[in-house]
Amino acid sequence: MTKGTAKDTLLARYNDIENVKALIEANSNEIACIILEPVAGNMGCIPPATDFLQELRRLCDAHNILLVFDEVMTGFRLAKGGCQQLFNVNADIVCFGKVIGGGLPVGAFAARNEIMNHLAPLGSVYQAGTLSGNPLAMAAGFAMLNAIHNDSELFQRLEEKTAYLHKGCAEALQSSGIVHTINRVGSMISIHFSEDEVIDFESAAKGNNETFKAFFHGMLNEGIYIAPSAFETWFITDALTYKDLDDTITAVKKVAKTL
Ligand SMILES: Cc1ncc(COP(=O)(O)O)c(C=O)c1O
Repeated sequence: MTKGTAKDTLLARYNDIENVKALIEANSNEIACIILEPVAGNMGCIPPATDFLQELRRLCDAHNILLVFDEVMTGFRLAKGGCQQLFNVNADIVCFGKVIGGGLPVGAFAARNEIMNHLAPLGSVYQAGTLSGNPLAMAAGFAMLNAIHNDSELFQRLEEKTAYLHKGCAEALQSSGIVHTINRVGSMISIHFSEDEVIDFESAAKGNNETFKAFFHGMLNEGIYIAPSAFETWFITDALTYKDLDDTITAVKKVAKTL
């Protein structure tokens, strides 16, 4: 990220609507859009506080600012309609990544007509790329989206599996007296080795990174490869069986004793 790019960006605190309001006030008429992960996944999993997304929507409407949801992690994962459906808030623009290509390399964005019509050939914004509409990624995405669409119990199953893992991990860590906070939304889950509630980057960064490192390597030794950073969310896939989850919980129990 160059300084030139960064200077056009303001950084607000997640879950802190007063901080967002102050930035808008200090930069009136200068803000084009507010971009966020509606459920944060890149500082570990952090759910939006009650009404945070709704308040952002109201602020954006009041100040003529576009609300952009980065649903690269949450899209088609937390609900068929992503966070927009889950929290009943419409963004103006939504971004998706590999999720829309069934895991193959692709990105996409969506918006209402008024915005999309700015793109060529209807509008003046030219958009093209070597792999735009790549048939392989489109076929994989279409197959995956159909699979989600045709499986009416998928999200319930994912919810139950992840809740099961959540409970098992919490009990395993508690029984060894390991200080932790578990955040979870649907099939996104994070163990923060932190005493306090984790609601933003600052509180996520307070987690004990040494404990995380020991936990990561301990789990790896037990044959469980978790995401290699305290700031990465775990994503639970429907391919995981309850035996896999039990094996994971058993490993957490064993590793917790060594922390
Ligand atoms: C929330 C979020 N947004 C955007 C990106 C960037 O996506 P890509 O790697 O497809 O450019 C990532 C990468 O994983 C991500 O996690």
